[in-house]
Parts: sequence; structure tokens; C-alpha cells
Amino acid sequence: MPEIILENITKMFGKTAAVDHLDLLIHSGDFITLLGPSGCGKTTTLRMIAGLETPTEGKITIGDRVVFSSEDGINIPPNKRDVGFLFQNYALWPHMTVYQNIAFGLENLKWSKPDIESRVAELLALLKIEPFSKRYPSELSGGQQQRVAIARTLAPNPKVLFLDEPLSNLDAKLRLEMRTELKRLHLSTKATFVYVTHDQLEAMTLSTKVCLMKNGIMQQYAPPLEVYSQPANLFAADFVGNPAMNFIDAKAACRPDGSVGLKADSFSGVFMPDEKFKLDCSDVVIGIRPEFIGIHDEFQPGLQGLDATVYSNMPSGMETTVKLKVGETILTSVIFRGVDYPVDKKVGISFLGDDILLFDKESGLKLVSGSLKTE
Ligand SMILES: Nc1ncnc2c1ncn2[C@@H]1O[C@H](COP(=O)(O)OP(=O)(O)O)[C@@H](O)[C@H]1O
Ligand SMILES: [Mg+2]
Repeated sequence: MPEIILENITKMFGKTAAVDHLDLLIHSGDFITLLGPSGCGKTTTLRMIAGLETPTEGKITIGDRVVFSSEDGINIPPNKRDVGFLFQNYALWPHMTVYQNIAFGLENLKWSKPDIESRVAELLALLKIEPFSKRYPSELSGGQQQRVAIARTLAPNPKVLFLDEPLSNLDAKLRLEMRTELKRLHLSTKATFVYVTHDQLEAMTLSTKVCLMKNGIMQQYAPPLEVYSQPANLFAADFVGNPAMNFIDAKAACRPDGSVGLKADSFSGVFMPDEKFKLDCSDVVIGIRPEFIGIHDEFQPGLQGLDATVYSNMPSGMETTVKLKVGETILTSVIFRGVDYPVDKKVGISFLGDDILLFDKESGLKLVSGSLKTE
């Protein structure tokens, strides 16, 4: 049974819809991220599930309880929804020790003293903050404070945990570390996590499913690797992945053998779709992830796909991002190793694998995936 169901949820602020007819089904134990650019409605969605914001319309169910229904006039207050929060600004109480910060909520819930003691001990261990239990927040680093905040949120054993950009105040290294910890926490607590972030990498690496939003409207709801390899539309394709997917405008025409002839500004090719599909537009966008552009060091005119020149080269050690010029088009390739291509070097490139995508240029919707050979 799903843990959280949103049905036709809309939130209007004046005339603008912050969240627009959202249907979302979150299963028990999922780690969902609400992902999208700033202002797309992520926080509003989270706050509505939590009960901190009242939807204009729709219905929300948590577990077997309807917690909000505009039709039936139901609106259960946040403290009765059995959920925990962790917000971006996780202010700890400065006059309380780490121990007291974690215990405070449990005292309010009238837990017995021995129960509180054992629960706090458990959390101190889980978050590896035992040595700091007697310290005050001001005596802790940012990462340690963050752990205390997480411990405090987890203390009452919420079945559902809401996290709104909880790592955005941390430096890059700590953020990476905390991501790992959050993923482990999710497994060990078996709670349902609903996590808000604008960081696609965070969403990709943490979640079981990504809900990608734009202007209050859900664009795609799928496991991260599916959003990556089978994005529903151009927005999803562009938002996820770094460096971004290459997009090339082309004219498309079906051929009798089921393939699609493609004519772009700087090359012609033949696209072999993975599955039967109906092409009912001629303006398409070819989408190619940087890792699917293979580079052949030795320039052999005509032999290896397309002739290209190195426009810029950015080795980062483990991998190298190479910008390539094909005619007037600049393409981005990523290769897994450090290579120092000189600028203006002539190379050959080809399109690898069968995860090349075709989009309808007008609607932006993904049409099909397949392989692409130049001709
Ligand atoms: N209390 C509010 N009053 C008016 N507009 C709001 C309020 N909260 C959010 N909004 C608007 O709703 C939209 C979605 O906001 P929000 O959910 O905070 O986006 P996100 O978390 O994705 O950055 C934005 O356009 C924002 O300006
Ligand atoms: Mg927000």
C-alpha cells in the first residue's frame, strides 16, 4: 500500500499556480526527490504534504488516513500527521547541549526518561556524534550540527521524513559525505523520505524515484537512471546530467526499412530506433549524452564517422570533457580518463550505443531512443 498519495493537488498563490494538478504516489520506504529549478513548487509540495500549507484543491492521503481533502473539508494539522521535518535552516537550540537538543522533542511527547535515554543513545551512535553529546551547538562544525539536526528529526521515529534542501548550507566535501550518510539512514530507518533539492546530482545519487517539476507541473516521475537515459522531454533531458546532453536540430524522414534519415546542419545520419514508432513530425531534436560521443585520436578522413576539431579540452583527472567542433556545431564529449588533446587537433568522432534520443522539436516530447550512424 502506498504511503503517500497526492491527487489533483493544486496550490494557487493569487493568480499563479505554485503547484498545478499534481498526482503523486509515494510507496512506503521510497526515497523520493522533488527536483527542479528554483520556484518550480518543490517546497510548496512538501509543505502541503506536511500540513504546513493548505492546498487550494485536491486530496492527500498518508498511510490509511486522508489528511487533506478540499471536497470533504478535511485538514489534519501537521503535528497529527506523524511526519518529521528537516529544513534548510535547521536551527538547533543554542542553549541546549546536543543530548538535550535530541531529547527535547521526546520530552514534549511525554516519553519516559529511560526510553528517551536509550533512544538518544541510539541516535548518537547512528549519526556518529556520541563524543559531542555534552557540547553546545556553537562548539560543533557545520557537519556535526547537521547530524544533530538529523538525529533530532529522527528521534520520534517518524514514518515519513521530509527534508528540504538539508545539505545546501554545507561545503562540497561535507555534502558528499552527508549524502552517503543519508542514503544509509534511509536504509536503516526504513522510513519514507521525501527530499527537496534543485541539485540534479543529489537527486540522481540519493533517490529511488525522482519527481521532476517545472512551473508547478510534474515533468517526469521515474527512477533516476530512467530519467537520465529515457527523459520524458527536452526539459528533463537538459536538467539531468552534467555536462548537459547535446541537442542537435535536424530534419527527419522515415525510410522504408524503419530507420529514420536525419539531416542536421553539420552532418547527415541514419537513426535506427529501438522500437517501432510513428514519426509524425519532420522537425526533430537529436539528444546525445556526452559519454556517447566517442573520439578517435588518429584522424582518418571519412573513415570514422565525423571529422571534428578539438575546440577545448578540460581534463579533470578521472575524466576529460572535450568540446568538439563539427562544422559550426559544438558538441560535448566526456571520456573516462585524463587526456590532454591540443586545441585544434583533428579527430574523428562517432555516436556510440543505442541510447541516442529523438525528440519532437515542437512539443519537446521524447519520441524514441536508438542508435545513430553518420552517412
Ligand atoms: N507564501 C507565498 N506567497 C506567494 N507566493 C509564494 C509563496 N510561497 C511560494 N510562492 C511562489 O510559489 C512558487 C513555488 O515556490 P516554492 O515551492 O518555494 O519553489 P521551490 O521550492 O521549487 O523553489 C514560486 O513562484 C514562489 O514565488
Ligand atoms: Mg524550495
